[in-house]
Amino acid sequence: MSFQVCPVDDAVDWPELGRCLHTSYTLPTPEPMFRFFRPVFDDSPEGIARVIERGTAALKSMHESATNSLWYKVVDNDTGRIIAGACFRIFHGKPFDHEEEKVHAAWPVGGQRDFVTAAGRIKEAPHKTLFNRPHVFVNVIFTHPDYRKKGMAGLLLEKGISKARDLNYPMWLDSFPLARRTYESYGFHTASSGEIDIQPSRPNGVDPDEWKRAENYLLPLKFWPMWRPADGPYVEELILIASRSR
Ligand SMILES: CC(C)(COP(=O)(O)OP(=O)(O)OC[C@H]1O[C@@H](n2cnc3c(N)ncnc32)[C@H](O)[C@@H]1OP(=O)(O)O)[C@@H](O)C(=O)NCCC(=O)NCCS
Repeated sequence: MSFQVCPVDDAVDWPELGRCLHTSYTLPTPEPMFRFFRPVFDDSPEGIARVIERGTAALKSMHESATNSLWYKVVDNDTGRIIAGACFRIFHGKPFDHEEEKVHAAWPVGGQRDFVTAAGRIKEAPHKTLFNRPHVFVNVIFTHPDYRKKGMAGLLLEKGISKARDLNYPMWLDSFPLARRTYESYGFHTASSGEIDIQPSRPNGVDPDEWKRAENYLLPLKFWPMWRPADGPYVEELILIASRSR
């Protein structure tokens, strides 16, 4: 077997890349943080196909409108199939100073969307504290279940690490459970926040049944903010002091 890593070809790759991404985040078991961004309310084949199509269109449009987004794919040279992919985003300055709250339009308006909005605030909080400085962000990374534990995520991470090295920027990501050990072996460290277990409290006036429905679908929702220093040892205090002085 041989593989190659190359930039995504915007003209042709998106449908296949989008299917690979969805399969990777949902099989063998769905990753709850992925369902947060991409809920499936109709799990018929047609319903799932619609979710993949909309999700892929959203990623493509985000990529096309951003100037800081780098997408890579891994191709199996024997079959020509896309079997893994990653998106890195390059942030300069203090990127989250004026970040607006995200609208989670895939969720129905009401108690479910209220839950996801409140959960989103907890999820985004480290952006404004720990990570509000120049960095390379690992936005998405996935390997098709048939090709795991062969070093594909490593090949992709090397691309982001090389970009960060060129810029002398640290890297940051939100790790889901499956990926933590891999990130550690590439020099990432869990930030001082440790594990973030997203459990928002229901505000007064929000429909309790709809709120509960979203909770039952999504929880537990856990992630680990992780850093990789630009160079030298990982000392979070130094990273934060450097961040404040920029
Ligand atoms: C997390 C994920 C991207 C890892 O992809 P992968 O291609 O299997 O990753 P790698 O092969 O580079 O590394 C995985 C493990 O295989 C090991 N490995 C790498 N090459 C290997 C080889 N040739 N033989 C045996 N093991 C190998 C690595 O050392 C690593 O071990 P570790 O978990 O004990 O550290 C994949 O599981 C995935 O897509 N998960 C769902 C989506 C997701 O959670 N993405 C991360 C979001 S933060």
